Amino acid sequence: MIKKCLFLVAGFGTRFLPATKAMPKEMMPILDKPLVQYGVEEAVAAGMSEICFVTGRHKRAIEDHFDDHLELDAHLDGTVRQDALNEIRALMTSCKFSYTRQSRLRGPGHAVKLGAILTGDQPFGVVLADDLCFGTDENVLAQLLRLYERYACSIVAVQEVPPELTDRYGIAAGSWIEEDVLEVDSLIEKPAVADAPSNLAVVGRYILTPEIYPQLDRIEPGVSGEYQLTDAIDLLAKERRVIACRFKGKRFDCGSLDGFVAATNYCYLQRFGHLPRVEV
Ligand code: G1P
Repeated sequence: MIKKCLFLVAGFGTRFLPATKAMPKEMMPILDKPLVQYGVEEAVAAGMSEICFVTGRHKRAIEDHFDDHLELDAHLDGTVRQDALNEIRALMTSCKFSYTRQSRLRGPGHAVKLGAILTGDQPFGVVLADDLCFGTDENVLAQLLRLYERYACSIVAVQEVPPELTDRYGIAAGSWIEEDVLEVDSLIEKPAVADAPSNLAVVGRYILTPEIYPQLDRIEPGVSGEYQLTDAIDLLAKERRVIACRFKGKRFDCGSLDGFVAATNYCYLQRFGHLPRVEV
């Protein structure tokens, strides 16, 4: 059973400036909960209990979020707000947290390589927290883990996107081996729309086996001059089986304004049963 989940949280979140100038993009709240907490809850609900972060300077709020806040506890003690932290307290007791820093932004491939000091020689999950995912029956990581039990190989989550948006994503090509399971032949990071081999876009949920590490050593800087995880998984797919899971559920790109607002509305609707009634 896979227990470790690696969160790549070193990125600047430039699409959300100025909000992300001093605040990690993963701490942006959807309603009253930061994005990263949704991701950790998903990992824990899927049965993972060792939460690892590749973090960076200016990201200390994430470590503080998953730590006790004794002054706040004392402040809330005996008040009506005393229970406000129960949810995150329960989350904190159901897993362990560890951190390593990426001192220069050199891309997700480089970040996963650095994360090896935390993830070690075992298979592990990977989450990009600005993709907020809600599964239909089970969450997206749980869907990937269930496939891992059968295939024991690296897995990427994919969803179909409009063809004109393929240049925003890693795009998977291959052949279907069962409903919603694609055997991957190639993965291309952000191809030009005309060159995209499909409209199956990689979403920020992965299961990786340690076989990824030698491939991470082989890749060169790719899109944006960064070491792309997609490129390493593509190399792996040429040597070993890699599958893509067309998951059941929704995904919001909370690194974009539209996705962030849509996610906020969706979560509000789920919680209150109606959209916010705005006074004008
Ligand atoms: C990253 C990955 C890309 C993936 C996307 C999903 O890109 O590199 O392959 O499709 O996340 O959100 P980013 O959005 O960080 O540019």
